[in-house]
Amino acid sequence: MKIEQAINFDDLRRLAKRRLPKIAFDFIEGGLEDERGIARNYEAFAAYDLVPRYGVDVATCNQSTTLFGRTYSGPVGIAPTGLAGLFRPGSDLMLAAAAKTANVPFIMSGSANGSIEDLGRIAPEHGWYQLYPARDRAISEDMIKRAHDAGLSTLVITVDVPTNSKRERNLRNGFTRPLRMTTRTKLEALLHPGWLGVFLRTGMPVFSNWQKYAPPGASAAQLADFVAEQTPIPVLWRDIEGFRRLWPGKLVVKGIMHPDDAIRCAAIGVDGIMVSNHGGRQLDRSPAPIEVLPAIAAAAGDKLTVMFDSGIRRGSDVIVALCLGAKYAFAGRFTLYGAAAGGTAGAGHALTILRDEIGRTMAQMGAPDILNLGPQFLTWAPDETRRNVSPALARQAL
Ligand SMILES: Cc1cc2nc3c(=O)[nH]c(=O)nc-3n(C[C@H](O)[C@H](O)[C@H](O)COP(=O)(O)O)c2cc1C
Repeated sequence: MKIEQAINFDDLRRLAKRRLPKIAFDFIEGGLEDERGIARNYEAFAAYDLVPRYGVDVATCNQSTTLFGRTYSGPVGIAPTGLAGLFRPGSDLMLAAAAKTANVPFIMSGSANGSIEDLGRIAPEHGWYQLYPARDRAISEDMIKRAHDAGLSTLVITVDVPTNSKRERNLRNGFTRPLRMTTRTKLEALLHPGWLGVFLRTGMPVFSNWQKYAPPGASAAQLADFVAEQTPIPVLWRDIEGFRRLWPGKLVVKGIMHPDDAIRCAAIGVDGIMVSNHGGRQLDRSPAPIEVLPAIAAAAGDKLTVMFDSGIRRGSDVIVALCLGAKYAFAGRFTLYGAAAGGTAGAGHALTILRDEIGRTMAQMGAPDILNLGPQFLTWAPDETRRNVSPALARQAL
């Protein structure tokens, strides 16, 4: 199958799996421990039904969404994913280019291989930067300055990585620091000559944004060690207050899972939050973000822009998130599989699939305007009863 023949998430996943060695594919697909979180993220969407309304003119459906004063063509952007250069050299900027073409936001990871400055050059109006705060505060402050100098509008602080999680696929594959690849893992990589040829030519991707802080002449491995000494660290509220003072643009906190934390963000003057459990990669027993979204959206009210990620495999998943109170959604694995399988075109194709599914779902639901989505489209319960409750409770109430 060629990338343009992929018709859904599963096809993109299959294509990425075929091209990548197991050690790299597992890094994208995997979670931690028993991977309950990933399964729960996906299953939680299935608990919601969309009820169609007819007699409505849906000949054209409008997906345009204004976020932080900028109008994007659709309600899904690209979430930050670290080490993307391992899957295909230059992936970060390929994802950025695809997002620019589709006119949706792209968030560059704090563990990206591409640089903040290159992002500013190719997609200043679509590129956001996600910061992993460093142990050395001067590094974080300099990165924030660089993002501003590069013309980026939005800074995202990820708070859900206070420590490294126990990613058992990586441990088994020897994807650790230092690398402890087993002979079997190395032999398996030989079955992916397309990826291997490029990897042997280009070598291990480097964490470009960290290079200027590491000892001069550091190799890719030494740079990775340096980043591992600096991150992850727990992000405290007082750190977010400090970042708020430093960053004049829009400030987003990613990884919020509790209404009280949302309220705390609002009090600090944060502009937006992303309800996210990191795609089930940090706390295996976390609820699915879609389950906690209604209560968080209710707590945020109009004080914060509420965004969502984790578990999106269908355009209709995005619709459910918007019906439950998210203003915007982000895809992680969906677009990363696209980029791994087919570079810029693959990432663009992933966004096109999502856009197409969203458009068809809106038409089928009788919802021509994305701005009018709400709980009224979820199973016909008296309007507000489905807000603030988990899917299981809502079902009992019916
Ligand atoms: C391979 C990979 C790397 C990721 N790296 C980061 C990262 O560097 N920073 C971050 O905030 N989130 C990171 N995430 C989490 C995503 O931003 C996002 O929250 C998650 O992928 C959403 O779930 P989904 O993959 O089911 O769409 C990563 C996710 C994946 C799959």
